[in-house]
Amino acid sequence: MKPKVLVTGGTGYIGSHTMLDLLENGCDVVCIDSCINSDTSCLEAIRQLSGVEVPFYQADLCDLGASERVFRDHPDISGVIHFAALKAVGESVEKPLLYFRNNVDSLINILDLSLRYGVKAFIFSSSCTVYGDVQKSPVDENTPWQEAASPYGRTKQIGEQIIRDTLQHTSMKSILLRYFNPAGAHPSGKMGESPINPPQNLVPVITETAIGKRESMTVFGTDYPTRDGSCIRDYIHVCDLAHAHTLALKHVFADRQLSQTEVFNLGIGNGLTVLEIIEAFQKQTGVSLSYTLGDRRAGDVMAIYSDHTKASKVLGWEPKMDINDIVSSAWTWEKNRSTAGGK
Ligand code: UD1
Repeated sequence: MKPKVLVTGGTGYIGSHTMLDLLENGCDVVCIDSCINSDTSCLEAIRQLSGVEVPFYQADLCDLGASERVFRDHPDISGVIHFAALKAVGESVEKPLLYFRNNVDSLINILDLSLRYGVKAFIFSSSCTVYGDVQKSPVDENTPWQEAASPYGRTKQIGEQIIRDTLQHTSMKSILLRYFNPAGAHPSGKMGESPINPPQNLVPVITETAIGKRESMTVFGTDYPTRDGSCIRDYIHVCDLAHAHTLALKHVFADRQLSQTEVFNLGIGNGLTVLEIIEAFQKQTGVSLSYTLGDRRAGDVMAIYSDHTKASKVLGWEPKMDINDIVSSAWTWEKNRSTAGGK
């Protein structure tokens, strides 16, 4: 029998690509999302690409009662992948309580429901932001945490700790996936990042500028002690990232995980600067980008990239796509959604 997986935040960017990957790899999927920063158009794309209509519940996980309905309707859910969260670093600095209330309450509720309804595998969408302002890269999973650079980062640190504490002495197992910088879009051009609020992340800012939704963009900081003065990050294609979730679930379902909680870094394993990303975009697409060199952004760390050896060894995960795939798929998606009259 196919395992049934509940994906929270499933209509969001990483959630939608993960739902498709799960369907393509022998899982049934149920989706819950509040749609405060996404819409349901990805469900149609998933239907076209997989032939499957994913059962969808519009509910806020902070509402325990509304969320429980999903488990009552689907008592055979054996895996949960918890994406639903607010994720804008800058907004979290301005509105910390919004972030703590939303990201922590929703996690507590979904853990509570998962335990009560006998879920076997709980996968948590964590972030490299838990490492804080690291002194050197690559970082592996044992790199000690620094002070979180933002309340958003703190919610991920707290989230991981809540899961570890809660799962002790239970039969549920969890995997904490620390993403580096997810970017790019599905190669079909039918699905990509499509938030309701204006995106703050580098790649969608680049594509929105290139298409003319923004007049210009700013490179945040060119005086960092890096090779060209701009920040270094580890950009990982969203489809590679999505597939890691399927592998993580299968790892737990196959009883290959001995410890209660495991953690994996998910990045490509090397870092690129902001200016290198802009250059890669211009080269791949032939579009020249209007940008200015600006001040540093509050809450940014200078450089961080991953060591993902553990995910390769234990989960058999290898990223297949590179920065050229990222920028070209993101550009195709931007053109498609703009032609379709999207936001
Ligand atoms: C941060 C988190 C990441 C999280 C993400 C969620 C860290 C190290 N990383 O990513 O784990 O998933 O938030 O949103 O905390 N930039 C510009 N101009 C722009 C936009 C961005 O120069 O208009 C630069 C930023 O300064 C940064 C890089 O591009 O150096 C990437 O920024 P962004 O895409 O926002 O991601 P992070 O802040 O690295």
